Amino acid sequence: MNPFPIVAGELYAEEVPLSRIAAEVGTPVYVYSRAALERNATAFRDAVAPLGDPLCAFAVKANPNLAVLRVLAAQGFGADVVSGGELRRARAAGIAADKIVFSGVGKTAAELTLALEERIGQINIESVEEADELSAIAAARGVQAVCALRVNPDVDAGTHDKISTGKADSKFGVPLAEAVEVYDRMATLPGLAPCGVALHIGSQLADLAPLERAFTRLGNLVTRLRQKGHAITRVDLGGGLGIPYRQGEMFPSLADYAAMVARVTRSWDVRLIFEPGRIIVGDAGVLLTRVVRVKRGAANPFVVVDAAMNDLARPAMYGAWHDFMPVRASGARMVANIVGPICETGDTFATGREIDRLESGDLAVFRTAGAYGATMASSYNSRGFVPEVLVDADRFAVVADRIAPDAIMAAERVPDWLSDDAGQAR
Ligand code: LLP
Repeated sequence: MNPFPIVAGELYAEEVPLSRIAAEVGTPVYVYSRAALERNATAFRDAVAPLGDPLCAFAVKANPNLAVLRVLAAQGFGADVVSGGELRRARAAGIAADKIVFSGVGKTAAELTLALEERIGQINIESVEEADELSAIAAARGVQAVCALRVNPDVDAGTHDKISTGKADSKFGVPLAEAVEVYDRMATLPGLAPCGVALHIGSQLADLAPLERAFTRLGNLVTRLRQKGHAITRVDLGGGLGIPYRQGEMFPSLADYAAMVARVTRSWDVRLIFEPGRIIVGDAGVLLTRVVRVKRGAANPFVVVDAAMNDLARPAMYGAWHDFMPVRASGARMVANIVGPICETGDTFATGREIDRLESGDLAVFRTAGAYGATMASSYNSRGFVPEVLVDADRFAVVADRIAPDAIMAAERVPDWLSDDAGQAR
């Protein structure tokens, strides 16, 4: 199944021509395929199903759109959330509270309280300080907080530094060497019901070896904790599986991943939790954009598109590659720098990229933009927030409105003391 097929020379999302979405909704716009979301969710679920009855908790941060979450909820997915906002979204999308896992180093007292009020399935504690705080909040409310301890296994995930989370100096989790001591403490604290351990070492991983190393260390920790009398019933293996962004790139298959997990966890006797994000939504979305103009350049022409780094931050933030293709191929080729309108050089999607020849007014897409796309948008340069569309076979719906710059400006206030005469005189 190709969610973005070319039909009679024109790029579609499922059965809808992208040109129709551009005409009706405008550009830039994110377009998601329901069929691709369901295909990816099913593939993941099926791959890990032989590992007992694992919880697949979609990492909401990858794509928090309510309609996307609703599709995944219907596929039996739970949610990995990292803020009160994500928790509320997961609940609003119909994800059962007991399928929600709350990770993150900076959960506030208000967020921990919300998690307890909602009776979510698990809170992943990331520090001894957080354990103490959660204990106090839960005990004061007379409830038991089901929690796991996130550890930092000190492995190099071999991915971009900004998305590595499991090295010794990373802010996430507690060091393995301190894990037993912290877990012992958690077991004595009132209001805490520790049930296991968790990790997540990084994102867009191209290799299973670091994951296997980390899981093996986690298994050793489970043994040590059990030796000390702790009942370990759950292990959360995080997310991180990488996906191809360039045509032809190869990544470990879900089957290889599941086989590795089966091998490492064979004797663990726990319920496994997975937190996949990118692999579920990445290739299910594109960012549809229109060429504003093609400007002459010193080395290459600049294809200036109406999408910018505020809409899709990954190239500017991580030097990430997104394939770029026209909605209707011209047949001719050009080598160009693809840039947005924002006033910094970092607003560059590609340099010296060979693409189909494009002209002012043409439509094109950045592919594989379903993960960490719209969710990382900002309104920098007083641009609005980009809308999102979900396609389902031959129909589509706007699942997030475009937020116009004026709507953002309407939330701002100029205090009286800046507008009165006295203020101006000074
Ligand atoms: N679990 C936890 C605790 C996480 O922090 C993350 C991602 C995931 C699961 C999901 O990881 P995934 O399966 O999607 O790799 N903005 C970056 C990616 C940041 C990932 C942050 N954590 C990007 O655009 O590449």
